[in-house]
Amino acid sequence: MKKLKFLFDNNVEWAEKIKKEDPDFFIKLSKLQAPEYLWIGCSDSRVPANEIINLAPGEVFVHRNIANVVVHTDLNCLSVIQYAVEVLKVKHIIVCGHYGCGGIKAAMENNEHGLIDNWLRHIKDVIRFNLNDMSKVEENEKFNWLCETNVKEQVKNVCNTTIVQNAWKNGNELSVHGWIYELKNGQLKDLNCCVSSAKEAAELCDIT
Ligand code: CO
Repeated sequence: MKKLKFLFDNNVEWAEKIKKEDPDFFIKLSKLQAPEYLWIGCSDSRVPANEIINLAPGEVFVHRNIANVVVHTDLNCLSVIQYAVEVLKVKHIIVCGHYGCGGIKAAMENNEHGLIDNWLRHIKDVIRFNLNDMSKVEENEKFNWLCETNVKEQVKNVCNTTIVQNAWKNGNELSVHGWIYELKNGQLKDLNCCVSSAKEAAELCDIT
């Protein structure tokens, strides 16, 4: 007997429901993928990209990892960005963090978690880059502040990729957004760090 049978039952129910509303939905979708958005978010099971922004399959290209980090040399994330920008020609890259992020919390502490501690070094770097600002934040606000600041740092990292820089150089329309999700009420907040040109990116990143 097949394990996890109930998930296959769920799948049939889901596909039938969609087909009832639009009989050709899957046929149309199988022929073309043309999303306008790339979502870079946390792997946390409570932050599912499509559901949060209420978009159907086919409408958002997704990359998720622990604590929504964009590392300069992460071929996985970079390949996703390249494919999204150069092949799918998305117009928006959304970096979405969330409050209560376990990865961020772990990076603020000094407990050992094994291999993942190496990944979380990137969050510790975010702390190090922003130590002065962080020292001014109230102790009980630091966790939320770091969840937000991490998003802003990752927006900078997206902007600094050769892929995004070249897209702007070629005159392509492309914006990078920094958002955060509140687990407690299901709502998104814009962190107002949207970047739409190399000039804006240089200003955000303090590079002249
Ligand atoms: Co998280």
